[in-house]
Amino acid sequence: MAERPRIIVGISGASGVIYGIRALAALRELGVETHLVASKAAEMTLGFETRVTPAELKAMADYAYKPSDIAASIASGSFRTLGMLIAPCSVRSMSEIATGVTSGLIARAADVVLKERRRLVMMVRETPFHLGHLRTMTQLTEMGAVIHPPLPAFYTNPETLEDIVDQSVGRALDLFGLNWKPTKRWGEDLIGGRRPASNS
Ligand SMILES: Cc1cc2nc3c(=O)[nH]c(=O)nc-3n(C[C@H](O)[C@H](O)[C@H](O)COP(=O)(O)O)c2cc1C
Repeated sequence: MAERPRIIVGISGASGVIYGIRALAALRELGVETHLVASKAAEMTLGFETRVTPAELKAMADYAYKPSDIAASIASGSFRTLGMLIAPCSVRSMSEIATGVTSGLIARAADVVLKERRRLVMMVRETPFHLGHLRTMTQLTEMGAVIHPPLPAFYTNPETLEDIVDQSVGRALDLFGLNWKPTKRWGEDLIGGRRPASNS
């Protein structure tokens, strides 16, 4: 294995590009080598939802690839990674991955991760879901992916939007065995999660 663990970060054009941004920041803090591929639609949401430029987004990763670069290292299973996090994951990208018809690098890298039986975590963001979306998520789960929608947890008593985003990112990174410090844990950081032993 490479000296530093590697993770592929896919950012597609669902709302919530901030999840991808915070994931890149978290992985940098954790010393994980990041390989980023952001779709064209993600560059649009980046412009709508943040003041971060595409160049600044790429600079947050160790390596960045064009979505059309199907010759990139992450397009091959021989390139060793812990897996891939797609944050956020659009319905379009999710559906493409489920079919195996991989027309771009996000879907190809995800397909490779699945075929190599590595971890694929998809922060699917859409609401509401129709039956086709739900069936696609079932299919992906059967194929080995983890569907991890960025749904806020309120037992953490979040005070800011960043608290909410970081908790979702932290729980996604848990699925790779990575412990990011801001992640709040019931029974550890949160009052009420651990109760004293009772004699009754
Ligand atoms: C501002 C904005 C917000 C969007 N939000 C979502 C969303 O939450 N979920 C989703 O599946 N698509 C959303 N879309 C649509 C996707 O960007 C669109 O389906 C696109 O083709 C996805 O391409 P990609 O999967 O290659 O990134 C949004 C588009 C825009 C412009």
